Amino acid sequence: MNLYICEICGDAHIGTEKPSDCPFCGARNNFIKPAHAAEPITNIKVKLSEISKKNLRETLDLEIKANAIYTCMAGKSKDYKIQKMYKRLAKVELEHAIIATKLLGIEMSEIKSEMCSDEDADNFQRTIELEDHAANLYKKFAGEATEGHIRKFFGALMQVEQGHIELIEKIK
Ligand SMILES: [Fe+2]
Ligand SMILES: [Fe+2]
Repeated sequence: MNLYICEICGDAHIGTEKPSDCPFCGARNNFIKPAHAAEPITNIKVKLSEISKKNLRETLDLEIKANAIYTCMAGKSKDYKIQKMYKRLAKVELEHAIIATKLLGIEMSEIKSEMCSDEDADNFQRTIELEDHAANLYKKFAGEATEGHIRKFFGALMQVEQGHIELIEKIK
């Protein structure tokens, strides 16, 4: 067994090989390193620019909302696979929110419940729209970041959210 650490969320994976994507935050496997070589972005303590602080706060709000929406969608589906998919998506988005709080050095915000449709088809469409919005926003935020580790965070998240769109397109 080997110990690997994800440089985006800072969490560890124990296994014979690196997973294809981080099981916690969904980051691509190029961000997962053997533990001794990993430099998690959440360990980097530098004063953030005003624009990065603003963008990270917006990310926190967006990810908390996504978590609540996906929790709702998991609860509405009659299909076990879809329930589990949304439960996992909710956890991944919550992880993104947690990383944003660590980068900002602030407490986690309260999660308020969100509404969603009773129909999987409506929820799939809404998921694609939410993820597309998030991916575009993170691309913009990556471009605005002057700090290397913040750029890395938004670049990684953009890929994760794009991956969620691919998943829904396959499953719907
Ligand atoms: Fe991760
Ligand atoms: Fe996310």
